Amino acid sequence: MALEKPYLDVPGTTIFDADQSRKGYWLNQFCMSLMKAENRTRFKADEDAYLAEWPMTDEQKAAVKARDLNWMMRTGGNIYFLSKLGATDGLSFQQMAGSMTGMTEQQYREMMLKGGRSPEGNRYIGENGDAQGPMAMSEAWKEWQEAHAQHALAEAIEQAEGAQPEGRATITASVYTSHVPAIGAAIDHGKTEEAYWKPLFAGYEPSKAWMKENTPDVIFLVYNDHATSFDLGVIPTFAIGTAAEFEPADEGYGARPVPKVQGDPELASHIAQSVIQQDFDLTIVNDLKVDHGLTVPLSLMFGQPEQWPCKVIPFHVNVVQYPVPSGQRCFALGQAIRKAIESYDKPIKVQIWGTGGMSHQLQGPRAGLINKEWDNRFLDRLVAEPAELAKVPHIEYVREAGSEGIELVMWLIARGAMADVAGGKAPSVAHRFFHVPASNTAVGHLILENNL
Ligand code: DHB
Ligand code: FE
Repeated sequence: MALEKPYLDVPGTTIFDADQSRKGYWLNQFCMSLMKAENRTRFKADEDAYLAEWPMTDEQKAAVKARDLNWMMRTGGNIYFLSKLGATDGLSFQQMAGSMTGMTEQQYREMMLKGGRSPEGNRYIGENGDAQGPMAMSEAWKEWQEAHAQHALAEAIEQAEGAQPEGRATITASVYTSHVPAIGAAIDHGKTEEAYWKPLFAGYEPSKAWMKENTPDVIFLVYNDHATSFDLGVIPTFAIGTAAEFEPADEGYGARPVPKVQGDPELASHIAQSVIQQDFDLTIVNDLKVDHGLTVPLSLMFGQPEQWPCKVIPFHVNVVQYPVPSGQRCFALGQAIRKAIESYDKPIKVQIWGTGGMSHQLQGPRAGLINKEWDNRFLDRLVAEPAELAKVPHIEYVREAGSEGIELVMWLIARGAMADVAGGKAPSVAHRFFHVPASNTAVGHLILENNL
């Protein structure tokens, strides 16, 4: 299913949605750069040279040079970003808005003085209002279109010929695992055979074998950023990574020597739009470095490949500064994510992973707390009665599983996305493992397969 876009039939209007944002990312970032005086000076001194520094399309650069705002919007620009370019040229918002209407500056000003444009006849495409005509275009845009008409036709034919096979995305399995940084360090420094680590890595051998047989196209990986990409300046409760690539972060020890993570901007944007339309307010992140919370689970499940064998959509949950989202909120979010993924019109296989936990406390005189009984009961209930488990309040996690044990609420997102929660069959347990300790933590691991 294409994204729900009820706004496409409003005349003379472009809504800046996830698709537009993806298209216009560098154009808008270029505009933002003009908020610095020194960049404005360099841009004005030599536009071509300044534009060459930005990975925008040739068309976006031509649109900027023509100062054609309709053209820039068509290629993904958003008016608040584009206004920085207008400001650099000394234009007011009224001049900028007016320039897109086909009216002269004077005519537009007079229309506004007379009370502004009427919505009558301008609510739907095809009515008889004054915003219904063809879009005002600069000579440069017209010339560009003529010169590229042949190319556009060839592209359209190519797209039609290479049409996607029919079908929808499916969630095939969910994977749950702790994400202790010391596990990553043991792998990176060749210590997996040491007596301390051997039993832990042995527990993931069946998982690696299972993964080889069941590699998905995309992993939707729920994790928490640990004061890495998000500092106390901005604290998103839920954030989805929509970029094409995510670099492993340097958390103070140097970046882990693991491959860059390849994202899936199209599916991530689809999920963002669908989940937000289901009333979960996600933060959309295009610029994100991923920490041990995301890379350690990948290493545990895939070992040390040259490239990760599938795409990964990072999904961050705030479990650092209270208030953190409740188990029930996470479980409901998982259900919304399932709906989003299953409405994506490509026949791809998606796994959803929940990471962090199990019991651990990294702070204060109670550091080192481990509660084996509580952890194993959590695993039992996660399999058999997740809706009941989701009702457990934060304070129980803290008291029983340690302050950092709260990471376990993220597992409920992955569990909420499984088929049985939406009335389907119960999942099968492909693998379960529990081990104490890794650094300060009890390590728990579970693989649940959907029976579709
Ligand atoms: C440890 C565990 C974590 O989940 C984490 O994010 C950092 C450290 C630990 O046990 O050392
Ligand atoms: Fe953690």
